[in-house]
Amino acid sequence: MGITATDVEHPVTKVDIIVSKGNDKGDITYANPIFFKLSGYTQAELLEQPHSILRHPDMPKIIFKYLWKTLQSGNDVKAFVKNMTKDGGFYWVLAHVRVATNPDKSFRNYVSTRKGMSASARTVIEPLYTELLTAESTGGMEASLPILEAFLANNGASLATFNDTMQNMQNT
Ligand SMILES: Cc1cc2nc3c(=O)[nH]c(=O)nc-3n(C[C@H](O)[C@H](O)[C@H](O)COP(=O)(O)O)c2cc1C
Repeated sequence: MGITATDVEHPVTKVDIIVSKGNDKGDITYANPIFFKLSGYTQAELLEQPHSILRHPDMPKIIFKYLWKTLQSGNDVKAFVKNMTKDGGFYWVLAHVRVATNPDKSFRNYVSTRKGMSASARTVIEPLYTELLTAESTGGMEASLPILEAFLANNGASLATFNDTMQNMQNT
């Protein structure tokens, strides 16, 4: 919010594992040092803030809709995310978000573990997200959902196998 996006990319190295935890609303309750370093924010600036503080304007809404719908049904999510840093720059990751539970099975928190996006995945996901975003700018998620479904179908997948499809794209 209020930050102008630039084309300055912040590299994520192969060994970086960027971790944060969130409450039921997605507010940040914990993050590891690399999360703060990469984002450019201090701990004080990020803790208790919503994760959407990192939201990049290039991210299609439909991806976050899938994320929340899946988490709220108790399942993990794997999704490519472009995040915006405090200086307006960006970094790409493959996020694996899990639902953590207490011993009595009640909700504990959401935990996101992110790794740098592979170059091969980037060549596929970047144009897909641009297409989804363009569709949303005129027709909202009603317009982007069929595009996402067609993309998955072209890859022999569906929303039910979204996570595996993203992981395969990361690996190939
Ligand atoms: C554990 C967890 C981690 C998240 N990490 C990110 C993130 O790194 N970047 C991001 O833009 N959204 C992240 N989100 C999703 C945000 O909560 C939010 O849905 C998203 O930024 C879109 O903003 P909006 O819901 O206000 O449209 C995360 C959510 C959870 C539960």
